[in-house]
Amino acid sequence: MASRRLLLVVMVVLGLCQIGTAQSPTYGVGRAPTAEEIRAWDISISPTGKELPPGRGTAKEGAQLYVQKGCAGCHGRTGWGGRAPVLISSKISKDGPPVPANGMAGMAHEPPPCLAPCVNDANAMAIHSPFATVIWDYINRGMPIGKEGTLTPNEVYALTAFILYKNEVIKEGDVLDELSLPKVKMPNAAGFALPPEEWKHGRPRLQNYP
Ligand code: HEC
Repeated sequence: MASRRLLLVVMVVLGLCQIGTAQSPTYGVGRAPTAEEIRAWDISISPTGKELPPGRGTAKEGAQLYVQKGCAGCHGRTGWGGRAPVLISSKISKDGPPVPANGMAGMAHEPPPCLAPCVNDANAMAIHSPFATVIWDYINRGMPIGKEGTLTPNEVYALTAFILYKNEVIKEGDVLDELSLPKVKMPNAAGFALPPEEWKHGRPRLQNYP
């Protein structure tokens, strides 16, 4: 009896070893991505900013790019009042009255009802986001719509600086680069997010968030 139980244990252990070492079957489809392909996809920037590429930019440079690269056409010259989400809080912006591309000049401070998630003065990224790196990451991967991926790192630093300066988060002369950007003190840094040094890959960025 005892030896049969021993045999069973041995068989189970052997079976487990088998699962561990078994090769998953190949189906003859797909291929391993090349290192270059992985690099092209692997562009996420975490709150610590350690993935940021080298580069630099200022708000002054960003102001020109904002017009040259077509941001103003969608987001409004003043950064609010356009078709696209508010980038510069109309309550903070010193520019006005707005001359938005869609002819909605003279609009009240609160934009008209918009589709959820609605971006307005209160939750414009520079005001609401806990980390400045989020803005850099968003512009880098998603803007300008239709020409994503065409901005150089320097241009993304400059545009981020412009948006942060116009929302009175940084000064006009501040230079943003891969070291200074993650250190920008965001107005909502303590609002609901973990401090960057406590954040690890795989951990939710927001506290108390399911
Ligand atoms: C063709 C119109 C268009 C152009 C051009 C454009 N944007 Fe956008 N932008 C949008 C739209 C639409 C969204 C919202 C997208 C979404 O929620 O998926 C957006 C979102 C954003 C956001 C995130 C806003 C938030 O709080 O969620 C940022 C930042 C931004 N754009 C910056 C820029 C910058 C900088 C440029 C110029 C380089 C630019 N955009 C050019 C249409 C545009």
